[in-house]
Amino acid sequence: MSDLITIDHLADHVGETVRVGGWITHLRSKGKIAFVVLRDGTGVVQCVVVKNRVDEEVFARVAELTIEASVIVTGEVKEDARSAGGVEIGVSGLEIVGASPEYPITPKEHGTAFLMEHRELWLRSRRQHAILRIRHEIQAGVCEFLDGDGFFRVDTPILTPCAAEGTSTLFSTEYFDLGEAYLAQTGQLYVEAAMMSLRKVYCFGPTFRAEKSKTRRHLTEFWMVEPEVAFLDHDGNLELQERMLSHVVQRVLERRRPELEILGRDLEALERVKPPFPRITYDEALELIREKAPEDGSIPHLEWGDDFGAPHEVLLSELFDRPVFIERYPAKIKAFYMQPDPERPEVALCADLLAPGFGEIIGGSQRIHDEALLRQRVEEHGLDPTDYRWYLDLRRFGSVPHSGFGLGIERTVLWITGIAHIREAIAFPRTLYRIYP
Ligand code: 4AD
Ligand code: MG
Repeated sequence: MSDLITIDHLADHVGETVRVGGWITHLRSKGKIAFVVLRDGTGVVQCVVVKNRVDEEVFARVAELTIEASVIVTGEVKEDARSAGGVEIGVSGLEIVGASPEYPITPKEHGTAFLMEHRELWLRSRRQHAILRIRHEIQAGVCEFLDGDGFFRVDTPILTPCAAEGTSTLFSTEYFDLGEAYLAQTGQLYVEAAMMSLRKVYCFGPTFRAEKSKTRRHLTEFWMVEPEVAFLDHDGNLELQERMLSHVVQRVLERRRPELEILGRDLEALERVKPPFPRITYDEALELIREKAPEDGSIPHLEWGDDFGAPHEVLLSELFDRPVFIERYPAKIKAFYMQPDPERPEVALCADLLAPGFGEIIGGSQRIHDEALLRQRVEEHGLDPTDYRWYLDLRRFGSVPHSGFGLGIERTVLWITGIAHIREAIAFPRTLYRIYP
């Protein structure tokens, strides 16, 4: 089948007879002429079948076609100014590769539950296709930026012996005679070790949290990229984040504009995503929430030391026209490894990056590099220091100030595509209520 031409290259073959393999997305016939719309993953093309120009047998086969059948079409590529790709195919032959009787997804409106139950097929729809392409572009953009900036990728373990982001969201499994193992909530602790070898590193893989929350932004399995850099302080960390995210957004705008348009995304809002991003402190954010929260009490009141919920993050992010850093949260609501602000130890040298109208897509911080302080924090968080021997060791042998962050891929897809629910941001979402298909 190496002679098949893909739809994205058809315009180079005008006037030639080619073979194209794909799936049928749309069928229409008017007596002696039939229109077959074919997609092949690279594009969509209309194929025109005229009864008296093809064998009887071919025309009969076309009449039997159904949606999502796979076919190989033979025909002449013709210029057609009205079509998206600028060409159509005048069919001379057609073979059915795989039939598709009674394809369950029809043009009528299906409920989300039905579509999720048929996720393996839903992925073929125009909208899901666009989202998957943008997701790929985001991931490629992240790697392109980091690789170009001198980072090394290090793959961190998924089966781990202890918690890293709180004990309440651990998935556990039995690990032979060695007791319980947990699915990694983050690769961070391990990239901190690798950072001491390679200076600038990142891990990029699936992470797991037994989140009991049923929201439009939580998955139990999500992908995260986590850069970690030696001799980098809190401010440098924020600069790295805004440079990386801007690079990713600009790459998506360059290469995936048609897909963003299919999804109806406001492109101007994305064009504005360039450094520097505004920065406000947790304290300032708290003031803003108190000032701007509607009188009707729809947004819960917060005291200093309370964590922000989704409604607070949405409210805050909507006050800015680009992503905004909220920095220096109270240390007690953040992870044990975060470096306290030397001038105000009750707050941590950390930041969450909130995307406009949406909320947190990055969490990051400078890390504690002093062994005694880290040990104290481990204990204060009710964790057992013996589980963290190796992690504490990093502070005993050539410890250096260092910082890093984690960007959630699905949250980023959600924001960049402008789709409403995280279940569409990954091919096969895992949530509290769904593990099929
Ligand atoms: O803020 P989090 O928990 O930070 C960490 O895991 C750090 N270890 C990262 C680091 O400093 N290396 O998670 C980071 C990001 C969040 O901002 C969010 O984008 C995403 O991971 N995330 C989730 N995405 C989907 N579903 C969930 N349940 C998520 N939990 C976190
Ligand atoms: Mg966070």
